[in-house]
Amino acid sequence: MPLEECRLIELPKIHNPQGNLTFVENSEHIPFDIERVYYVYDVPGGAERGGHAHKDLHQLIIAMSGSFDITLDDGKNKKTFHLARSYYGLYVCPMIWREIDNFSSGSVLMVLASNKYTEDDYYREYDNFMRARWVK
Ligand code: TYD
Repeated sequence: MPLEECRLIELPKIHNPQGNLTFVENSEHIPFDIERVYYVYDVPGGAERGGHAHKDLHQLIIAMSGSFDITLDDGKNKKTFHLARSYYGLYVCPMIWREIDNFSSGSVLMVLASNKYTEDDYYREYDNFMRARWVK
């Protein structure tokens, strides 16, 4: 899928002086059904995560707390998104390489994912990803 498919999605936000509330429903707010949720936290300063692409997985990445940068790369074009608000999610479609860095201290990155974890779904070598993406 093309890099242009990846985009920031603004989620519903119920504003309340006692605290805001955001929700996500399958197919309603995101273009896939959620099979798995995971989160990354206690990230040390200067850490870089990601460095892989998924073959079939659809994801929505949300900064539940703090902020970080996500660079998406389809092998030809790159785009960097700064995530800092928990009512925005970055939709990442399959076959997109991602690097995540610039984590603020105390940040929490949550991922809503379309499938359960399997290592077979990963490209962890950029060359292998490029070959699969562009060489027919
Ligand atoms: P990885 O996806 O490489 O993390 P990141 O992209 O955030 O740097 O996963 C790190 C490790 O955690 C790797 O050994 C696989 C394991 N893991 C699971 O066991 N289940 C999961 O749902 C995820 C996302 C990772």
